[in-house]
Amino acid sequence: MSEHQNATVLLEARPGAPESPAPAALEPSLPATTQRSPTPPSYVWAIETRGLTKRFGQATVVDGLDLRVPAGSVFGFLGPNGSGKTTTIRMLLGLISPSAGEVHLLGEPIPAANGRVLPRVGALVEGPAFYPWLSGPQNLARFDAAGSDSRRVGRNERIADALARVGLTAAADKKVKAYSLGMRQRLGLANALLHPCELLILDEPTNGMDPQGTREIRHLIRDLAENGTTVCLSSHLLAEIEQVCTHVAVMRLGKLLAQSSLQELRATTVERLRVITTDTELARATLHAYGVVVTIADDGALNIDPGEHSPEELNRVLVTAGVGVRRLVLESPTLEDTFVALTGEGFDVAQ
Ligand SMILES: Nc1ncnc2c1ncn2[C@@H]1O[C@H](COP(=O)(O)OP(=O)(O)OP(=O)(O)O)[C@@H](O)[C@H]1O
Ligand SMILES: [Mg+2]
Repeated sequence: MSEHQNATVLLEARPGAPESPAPAALEPSLPATTQRSPTPPSYVWAIETRGLTKRFGQATVVDGLDLRVPAGSVFGFLGPNGSGKTTTIRMLLGLISPSAGEVHLLGEPIPAANGRVLPRVGALVEGPAFYPWLSGPQNLARFDAAGSDSRRVGRNERIADALARVGLTAAADKKVKAYSLGMRQRLGLANALLHPCELLILDEPTNGMDPQGTREIRHLIRDLAENGTTVCLSSHLLAEIEQVCTHVAVMRLGKLLAQSSLQELRATTVERLRVITTDTELARATLHAYGVVVTIADDGALNIDPGEHSPEELNRVLVTAGVGVRRLVLESPTLEDTFVALTGEGFDVAQ
C-alpha cells in the first residue's frame, strides 16, 4: 500500500455508505453559518458525488470520486497542477459528462435537474471567456441577459454591485482585451456574483491576483459564507485554503486522498513546543530526566513533544533547574505540516 492510500485510510472520516446522512463526526464542525441561516437548506451536502470518474482516451483523470461538501461550508478543493480539480468542477456543473458516477448539487441529480439547480449556483471556471472588445460592464450585461433570470430591471445596479464587490469599479470601463490576468479573474468572479446563489463554485479564484486582491477575495468569500452561501473553491495554494476554509479535500492524480473538516485534519497531528534557552544541553538533560521527548533543531531550539505536560509546567521545570528560558512557543502544525505527516511527502510534488 502506498503512503497515499495510507493517508486516505487515516482521513476517511466518513466510511459509511454514500447515501447515509451527515455522519456524526462531521456535524459539530459544520460552520456556524449553517446553523444561523434563517431557512436551513433541505440538503445536507451542497455537493455530493458518487464514484465520479472521467476518462480521456486511456487516461483516467478523475477516478471514482466520492466528494461531499457540507451545506454552509467553505470547502477547499486542493491538489497539485493536473490532479483533476478543473475536470471535476466541469462535471459538477454539467459542462462535460462523466464517464461514470453521479453528481448531486443542492440535493438534486445533475444533469437531470440542471434547469432547477444551476440557476441557484454561481461559478467561475478556469480561464473565463469574455468579449475582448467590450468593457467589463458590457460583458456582464450580455451574460446577465443570457442567464436564467434575464430581467432587464435592475441590471445596471446588479452589474455595478458585482463589480464593486470584486474591486473592479474604477477599471471596469477599459476594454477587456486590456485587462490584466487578475482583472479578468475579478470580472469572472463578478459574473458569478451577478445573482444571489446558494452555492458558489470557484476554480482557482485568486489565480493571477496580487496579495491585495487575494486578501479581498478572502474577505468576499467569508462575507458570502456568513450570508449562508456554500463556497467550494479549488486551489493549489495550501496557505490560502487554510485561511478561509472550514473543510478541505485533497486530490492527487485524479484520486481523493482525504476530505474532512480542517479541525479534524488538524486533530490528526500534535502541537509542538519550541523553546529557546540560555543552555541547550542542560535544558535537554533536564527535560529528558523529566520524561519528555526533546529534539534539538539546527538553530539550537528545543523541539518538544509536550505530551500530557502543560507549557507552564515545563517552563517551571527548566527554570527550577537553573535554565534561562528566552522564548517558549506552542506551535500548531500548518496545513502543509499536516499533509506532509499524512502523505509522507510535500504537497507540490511533480506527478
Ligand atoms: N480535454 C482533455 N483532454 C485530455 N486530457 C485532459 C483534458 N482536460 C484535462 N485533461 C487532463 O486531465 C488531467 C487533469 O486536468 P485538470 O485541468 O482537471 O487539472 P487541475 O487539477 O485543474 O490542474 P491545475 O491546478 O493546473 O488547474 C491533466 O492531466 C490534463 O492534462
Ligand atoms: Mg485547474
